[in-house]
Amino acid sequence: MEELVVRAARDLVNSRYAIALTGAGISTESRIPDFRGPSGIWTKDPEAERRAYLAYQSLLEDPKRWWEESLSGPRPRFIEDLEKAMPNPGHYALAELETMGILKSVLTQNVDGLHEKAGSKNVLEYHGSMFKLRCISCGSRFAQDEFDLEKLRVKDKLPPRCPKCTGVIKSDGVFFGEPIPSDVSHLSLEEAWKCDLMLICGTSAVVYPFAELPRVARQRRTETEGKTETGIYMVEKIPAVTIIEVNAEPTPLTEERISDYLIRGKTGEILPKIVEEVKKIRQ
Ligand code: APR
Ligand code: ZN
Repeated sequence: MEELVVRAARDLVNSRYAIALTGAGISTESRIPDFRGPSGIWTKDPEAERRAYLAYQSLLEDPKRWWEESLSGPRPRFIEDLEKAMPNPGHYALAELETMGILKSVLTQNVDGLHEKAGSKNVLEYHGSMFKLRCISCGSRFAQDEFDLEKLRVKDKLPPRCPKCTGVIKSDGVFFGEPIPSDVSHLSLEEAWKCDLMLICGTSAVVYPFAELPRVARQRRTETEGKTETGIYMVEKIPAVTIIEVNAEPTPLTEERISDYLIRGKTGEILPKIVEEVKKIRQ
């Protein structure tokens, strides 16, 4: 493992445009359970996963009823865990790599807001945020406190409506079966096209379209052709991407050799070690 940590640090220092992709695994050390790990939410409660697959359809069919049910019942344990959670050394390590100018962006599947809390600036929340609301018609986002949901419930004025287009408002968190908001989807694809290093942390890499991003980077062309202003024909070389996984267990990216190597273990332990090695190399 130590050798791979040094190798990852060297690859990062030599990179021109490194990005990070993260999943629930990076937040388990912040006491937020993941989904498909050994003690994951879906692993322990497959029924809950089945219900999650129905949520988006039931919201579209009857948004009033959906909001009444979600505001009247007890607050889900997952939401309480999110609200209490603090970043761990894994989040801080990625923020530090950004401050050092090595990491250009973090593309996360997590809705917990912990990357920003740790100080990361350029974060793309691919599956949205549980701390924001979004209009399903125009895509506008709002902070939660811009709507008094309890007052709307008491006054029988649910669902909340978009002040810009009167569309239905829902949590910004992306539900199963819901399209990824086009802004984060486009920006994430651009990052996958541009990067020459992808550091993939704490994801089982089985949920699409996010799991497609490493494949996009791996399969992109390594040459662009074109004519200069003066009409000279030229071929520009695009460096092939280096894909590194930091995860507790192998994933389809490992098995299909989409990634170059896997550093197996906890992100909260391995990522800070990589930062230490980067500092040594840069000295
Ligand atoms: N360090 C490294 N890896 C970890 C750690 C840790 N501390 N804790 C867990 N893992 C690994 C697990 O072994 C698993 O391989 O992280 C991975 C987490 O995978 P999932 O639980 O499937 O989470 P994720 O990939 O983010 O899920 C994607 O699925 O349920 C939906 O919308 C939800 O965004 C989520 C998406
Ligand atoms: Zn709207």
